Formats: sequence, C-alpha cells, structure tokens
Amino acid sequence: MKKCVLVSGGAGFIGSHVTVELIEAGYDVIVADNMSNCDMTCFEGVKKITGRDDIPFVEMDFCDAKTTEELFSKNAIDAVIHFAGFKAVGESVEEPLKYYKNNLESFINVIASSKEHGCGNILFSSSATVYGEPKKLPVTEEAPRQPATSPYGNTKQMCEDILRDSVRAYSGLKGIALRYFNPIGAHPSALIGELPRGVPNNLVPFLTQTAIGKRECLSIFGDDYPTPDGTCQRDFIDIVDLAKAHVFAVRRMLEGQMKKVYEIFNIGTGTPLSVMQLVKGFEKANGLKLNYKIGPRRDGDVTAIWADPTLANNELGWKAERKIEDTLASAWAWEKHLAGE
Ligand code: UD1
Repeated sequence: MKKCVLVSGGAGFIGSHVTVELIEAGYDVIVADNMSNCDMTCFEGVKKITGRDDIPFVEMDFCDAKTTEELFSKNAIDAVIHFAGFKAVGESVEEPLKYYKNNLESFINVIASSKEHGCGNILFSSSATVYGEPKKLPVTEEAPRQPATSPYGNTKQMCEDILRDSVRAYSGLKGIALRYFNPIGAHPSALIGELPRGVPNNLVPFLTQTAIGKRECLSIFGDDYPTPDGTCQRDFIDIVDLAKAHVFAVRRMLEGQMKKVYEIFNIGTGTPLSVMQLVKGFEKANGLKLNYKIGPRRDGDVTAIWADPTLANNELGWKAERKIEDTLASAWAWEKHLAGE
C-alpha cells in the first residue's frame, strides 16, 4: 500500500515543490495549509504538474489542537513534513509573540497528534540560520549552534529541540531536521515558485521583481565584507534539489534506515556564491541587465555561510544537481509566468 505523507504548509514555496516530488516518487500526500501567507496558485500548479486533480487539500491551522487531532484521527498518516510557520526575520523582531505562538504551538500540536495516532515519522524544516556566523567553513552538522539573532531563528532552534526531546521521550517517534541553506529558483514548469507578499525580504524574489520592473532597483546590502568581492557569500540551493532531499529523508524514515531516533542533515550544495556573483549570474543566464546599486549592510546578516553536505550525500544518498544557470533561469521564468508573459 502507498504510504501517506502529510505536508503542513504544503501550499507554500517549499511545501508545494516537496508535494510534487513526493507524488512523483509514488507517495500519497495530504496538503494542509491555513493560507495565511499564500494563495491557491501553487497548489493549482502542483495539480497541473502532477496531472492529479485529486490531491487532498485541507484548509486548517495547526495551532488549533482539535482540528490537528481530527486530521490525524481521520487519516492514516505515515509521516509528516512540517513547514507551517511564519518566516519573515524582520517581522519576527517586531512581533516576537506572534512567531513564538504560531511556530511553536503548531509544531507541538503536530508532534502530539503524531504520537497519539501512531504516525512515527516527523520531518522538520529547519534552517542554516541556527549556525549564526560559523567559525569554520564549510559548516558541518557538528558545528555548534549560535544564539539566534531573531525570534524567527530562535523558533527554528526551539523546534529542533522540541523534536529531539520528543522523539527521545516517546517510543515509536523518529525525527529528522533538515537545515536548509538558501533555497532559490522555481520548478522547471514555471507553474510553482516563490510568491512573496509585499516587498520581498529575500534576495532572489527582490531581484526578479526588479528585473520585471515591479521594483526600481535592487540594493546589494554591503560590499565591504571580508569576502573575495566584498559581498556576502551564501549557499544558494535549487528549490527542486532541496525538495528532492525530503523524499530521500522520508524514505529513510519509512524504511527504517535511520541510525538514531533524531538526525540532522545540512541541505546545501557545498559551493559558496557571493551576492554579486549571483546578480551577475542572473544577468548572464537570462541575457539581461539588472538595475542594482550597492547599499548599506543589513542588520543581522552573516558574512559567509555554506554547507558541508557530505552527511546528506552519504547517508541520504542525495546530492544537489541542478546548475546555477538553470536555477536562475527558472526564477526568471516564474516571475514572467506571474506577470502573464
Ligand atoms: C534569510 C534568513 C534565514 C532564512 C532565509 C529564508 C537570517 C539572517 N536570514 O537568509 O534565516 O532561513 O532567509 O530564505 O535570519 N540581499 C541583498 N539585497 C536584498 C536582499 C538580500 O543584498 O534585497 C543579500 C543579503 O544581505 C544576504 C543575501 O542577499 O547576504 C541573501 O539574503 P536573503 O535572501 O534574505 O537570505 P539570508 O539572509 O541568507
């Protein structure tokens, strides 16, 4: 029988790409989302890409313990991937309680219901933000976590701990935390992608909106960092590559291949790229000129971070494969799709 995976926050950017990959790998998927930060665009895109009109969709809030409980009691869920959460770093500084309440409560409800209803496999979407400014690069999973610089980052650390402690305490539960580096790009079909509300905080959506004329000019936040070209360095990972890592992780859980009840994997390419290199790469990949300027540094940005993905490569059997040119072309194709071009 097909295994069933619940994807909380499944209508969002990462969740929709993961849903596609799970379905293509032969899993049944239930998508649940409270639609607080997205619309149905991506879910409709998922249906088109997979040719499946019957993917179950539940509009619900995981902060509601009773609804969460009902979802698990009515469905035989084998694994859950938890994406549902707020993710704007700046907003989290201004409204910390909103972030703590939403991000922690929803995850606690998911774990509690998993435990009650025999869903033993929980995958959490964590972030490289837990490493802060790493002392050694590339960063391995062994690197110490640094005190979070925002409530958002703190919720990632706290959720990791809640998962770790829960799977240790309650027999039958296992957990994996995937620490994402910087996911960018869109599905090659250009039917799903990132859909930021208002002014984008992240580099690539701001960049593509500038290219299409929605924003006047991209500001590069600082060129006086101690890096080869003075701009920050990141590990930009293609969203489809990142989505595929979830399929490997879910399989590892469902097929009993985990070596410990709680495992952590870095999900990155292992290759650093500077903000300037990314901007230039975007221009080249798409044959256009971008309006950009050098602006001041942004508070809270780390100078450089990129992954050592060896553990994920060896243990999950997963590796990032898509070329950066293709990723940057996909980001542009998605922006044009949104503009109806
Ligand atoms: C941020 C969050 C991270 C979160 C991730 C989600 C922090 C410090 N960072 O990562 O926790 O998981 O988003 O995607 O909490 N940049 C510009 N101009 C812009 C926008 C960004 O130059 O208009 C630069 C930034 O200074 C940074 C790089 O581009 O060096 C990437 O920025 P961004 O896309 O926001 O990601 P991170 O800050 O790395």
